[in-house]
Amino acid sequence: MRKKILVTGGAGYIGSHTTIELMAAGFDVIIADDLSNSNEKVVDRMEQIAGTRPAFEKINLADEAAVTDLFNRHRHIDSIIHFAAYKAVGESVAKPLLYYKNNLLTLILLLEQVKKHRIPGIIFSSSCTVYGQPDNLPVTEETVFKPAESPYGKTKQMGEAILRDSCLADNDLHAIALRYFNPVGAHPSALIGELPNGTPSNLVPFITQTAAGIRDQLHVFGDDYKTPDGSALRDYIHVVDLAKAHVAALARLLNGKQKSNYEYFNIGTGKSLSVFQLIKEFEKVNAITLNLKVTGRRTGDIEQIYADTTLANSELGWKAELGIDEMMRSAWSWQQKIR
Ligand code: UD1
Repeated sequence: MRKKILVTGGAGYIGSHTTIELMAAGFDVIIADDLSNSNEKVVDRMEQIAGTRPAFEKINLADEAAVTDLFNRHRHIDSIIHFAAYKAVGESVAKPLLYYKNNLLTLILLLEQVKKHRIPGIIFSSSCTVYGQPDNLPVTEETVFKPAESPYGKTKQMGEAILRDSCLADNDLHAIALRYFNPVGAHPSALIGELPNGTPSNLVPFITQTAAGIRDQLHVFGDDYKTPDGSALRDYIHVVDLAKAHVAALARLLNGKQKSNYEYFNIGTGKSLSVFQLIKEFEKVNAITLNLKVTGRRTGDIEQIYADTTLANSELGWKAELGIDEMMRSAWSWQQKIR
């Protein structure tokens, strides 16, 4: 029988790409999303790509009665992938209560349903932000967390703690946290991609909007870091590779292959790239020259981080395959098609 997966935030950037990979792998998907940072057209486009339409539930997952009702109507869910969360670092500094309430309450309500309905497992969207600015690079899963730089980052640290403690207390609960590095790029069909709300705060949407003439100038936040070219280093990963990591993690959960009932993996490429290198790659593959200006560092930014992906490679049997050229090409194709 086909397995049924509940994907919260499935109309969002990473959620929509993951839904496509899940459907391609033969899963039935139910998306639960409040469309606060997306729209229902995304579901139409997923249907266009996959040939089948995922079930869709418009729901606020912080509403306990609505969540209870959702699980009463959808029996026999085999697993949950929980993407639904707020993710704007700057906004989280301005509105911490909104972030703590939404990001933590949704997770707690879902875990209560997991226990009540004996759902075999849950995959949680964590982030490399849990490491703060680490002393040693690359970071492994055992790298000790530094204080997170923002309430958003703290919700990811706390989310992992909630999962760890819940799994310790209950051997029947199975969870995997995936610590994403910097997801960029879009589906090769250019039918789905990142849809930033208002002025983008992330680098790649800002680049593509500058290239499209929506923004006058791209600001490079700092060229005085202790890195080879002075700009900050990150591990950029193609969103399609990231989506596939979820399918691999799900297979591990559903096939009972976990070594303990709570596991966590770094999901990156293992390569670091500077802001200047990424911009050059975008300009090269798309034959575009961007109008840049170096400005001061952005508050809360860390200097550098990239992943040791050995554990995900060996345990999940997954590896990032797409290069920065493909990330930059697909990001631009998507920008040109956004409607
Ligand atoms: C951060 C978090 C990540 C989180 C994401 C959500 C870390 C290490 N990463 O990503 O977990 O999911 O926010 O938003 O905490 N930059 C510019 N000009 C711009 C925009 C960005 O130079 O207009 C630079 C930044 O200073 C940074 C790099 O580009 O060095 C990447 O920035 P961004 O795309 O915002 O991602 P992170 O801040 O790394």
